Formats: sequence, structure tokens, C-alpha cells
Amino acid sequence: MEVITEINEMRARVLSAKDRKRSIGLVPTMGVLHDGHISLIRSARKENDEVVVSIYLNPTQFDNNDDFDKYPRQLNKDIDVIRKENADVVFAPCTEEMYPEGFCTNVTDDRLSDTMCGRVRPGHFNGVSTIVTKLFNIIQPDLAYFGQKDYQQSAIIKRLVTDMNMEIDIRVCPTVREEDGLALSSRNGRLSPEERQDALCIHGSLLKAREMFASNIRDAKEIIGEMTSVIKDAEYTKIDYISIVNADTLEDLSLINGKALAAVAVWIGNTRLIDNTILE
Ligand code: PAF
Repeated sequence: MEVITEINEMRARVLSAKDRKRSIGLVPTMGVLHDGHISLIRSARKENDEVVVSIYLNPTQFDNNDDFDKYPRQLNKDIDVIRKENADVVFAPCTEEMYPEGFCTNVTDDRLSDTMCGRVRPGHFNGVSTIVTKLFNIIQPDLAYFGQKDYQQSAIIKRLVTDMNMEIDIRVCPTVREEDGLALSSRNGRLSPEERQDALCIHGSLLKAREMFASNIRDAKEIIGEMTSVIKDAEYTKIDYISIVNADTLEDLSLINGKALAAVAVWIGNTRLIDNTILE
């Protein structure tokens, strides 16, 4: 497995793969890989001749310096994990290369980032769309893999490739959970044992939404009310948002009448976690 840090070198590697008609699968990450990332790498391994995993902690998608500073980093350990999964390349560029002096172009969307995480984290999705566009331009993948836990991110990226005529298939893979239901996240490591216990209310609130939906309740406000109670029952929580939206347009729903998404963002102590479930 090659570890490449320079854009020119990555481009040369891509050109050689394209010359040999080898398909490229990209798994973009910010490092601190967990089983969720590994499941993306395994899906990529099954479907592509070459698998590239990018590791880049993108500063422009953090709306808060403290969150960026506290975000865990473990490049060497990540490289070992990726090697075991038989990827072909780790692309780990530095910020001087990704955002050189004078950088001033950003990719923004006009609609999908107006709700949920976009509403509470201004600029976050511009940062994501910009870095993902750059990675797509450098690596030119045929397929790119994202996790359903970041549902809004995946929706924005799907729209981005359609709107910008990029010939890339976006695969959205299921959220990987601990046995007790907590969605895997690089941020989980920051939780104290008490907070880790409290964090279960997030999955609990989604199960509540599913249960209500299964018993034919379609009123979003009623479902959100019950989800709120589940989360408020836990001690260290502060709700950022609980939303029920159209799963395609991400518009808030008052009545569920098609494929919907129940999504939550909750502060557990000083750690913000997100999760979601499809209601259909
Ligand atoms: O989901 C992530 O880890 C990041 O948002 C991504 C897609 C790698 C872009 O920095």
C-alpha cells in the first residue's frame, strides 16, 4: 500500500490507474478510523480495482476552533488499519497543499444545507462540499463511499455530483452501531463513562420514532415530542435539533406522507453527536 501526501504524486497514480482501465473507489475520511469507516473500505474493496482512502482533517468544515483542536488525530494507527483492509493508497495531504495561500473558491449549495446540521453549523457544509470536490477532482473516483450517519452530508454530495456533472456514483452505506445501538463516531472516544451511557438516548429516541411510525402515527410534531422526552430523560444532554424531514429534499414535514428521515443532533456534555433513521 502506498501512502501519498502530495497532490502531484496522487494525480500521477490516478493517471496510471486510468491508463490501465482500473476503476477507482474513494473512501474520504478525517481519520480516527472506526468500524464504520472499515465497512466503507470493505464495500469499496469489493467493487473497485483500486481503493483510495483519504485522510484529511479539513479545517474549513469546523465551525468552531475548539472542536477542530479537540478532534482526535492518529495518522499512523489509521494507516495500519487501512493496510490491513488491503486498500491500495492512503492519500493524506497537508493543509498547505489543500488550501494554498490565496485560496478563495468555495462550493456551496442553495437548499440542502439550510436545515438540520446546516442550520446550527453555519459554513460546515460549504467546507464539506469544497473539500469533497477537491478530492473528487484529484482522485477522479468512479465510486465514492459515505456513511448514512451523515445523511445530510450524503444528500448534499449526491446533489453536488448531479449538479456539477461529475461522473461519480455515490454509495451511502448503513450506519455501524455498537451492540447497544450507539452509532460509531470518532467523537465517541471523548465521552466519559456516564456520558457514554447517556448517549444511548439518541438511538432510543430514533427507536421511539420508528415505533410510533409503525403504529401509524404520521404527525411529525407528536413524534418529535416523544423523541424529545426520551432525550431529556438523560442527564447530560442538550438537544441541538430533532427533525423529521422529507428524505430526498430534507424539507421539514408536519405530516409524514412519503419516505421521511428522523434526525437528531444532541450535545452529550461537550460532545456533539448525530444520528438518524429512515421512516418508510
Ligand atoms: O464525513 C467525513 O468524515 C468528512 O465530512 C469528509 C466527507 C471526509 C470531508 O472532510
